[in-house]
Amino acid sequence: VLSGADKNNVKGLFAKIGGQAEEYGAETLERMFAAYPQTKTYFPHFDLGKGSAQVKGHGKKVAAALVEAANNIDDITSALSKLSDLHAQKLRVDPVNFKLLGQCFLVVVATRSPALLTPEVHASLDKFLCAVGNVLTAKYR
Ligand code: HEM
Repeated sequence: VLSGADKNNVKGLFAKIGGQAEEYGAETLERMFAAYPQTKTYFPHFDLGKGSAQVKGHGKKVAAALVEAANNIDDITSALSKLSDLHAQKLRVDPVNFKLLGQCFLVVVATRSPALLTPEVHASLDKFLCAVGNVLTAKYR
């Protein structure tokens, strides 16, 4: 469960990342596809080559969804309801992959903005990404 301090940490982090969020999203996907190649199987229709415009575009969408979740951190379930339907009912992404994507996002924050990722913010961001993954996989049953 996200505490009040966690919520502030997450909101503060996304406020500082600001307009760079889309680049973070794209790098998160690049890292996920490179480090966990099995995740590529969900994107057979994408060009996954280096600097792919499709990956950039998708990274922007993923980042926007994370920002939306952070902006509605008291009710992530409602904020991501449509995305939850999509991932569970249409895309059927295996839940383990959400942990991998979350891991990659953490690494991107760590490498791009090391000063922002204090141990406290790290812990709060990890909880937040876990909560987002739980929402996106909640409708599988
Ligand atoms: C589509 C967000 C995790 C596979 C999308 C879209 C968003 C999104 C915003 C676009 C929906 C639309 O166009 O209406 C997220 C977030 C995630 C997440 C916030 C976790 C934090 C994953 C994971 C996978 C995945 C782990 C698979 C490894 C896909 C696929 C699409 C999609 C295949 C459709 C792409 C297309 O054909 O355009 N996701 N996603 N997602 N997502 Fe996710």
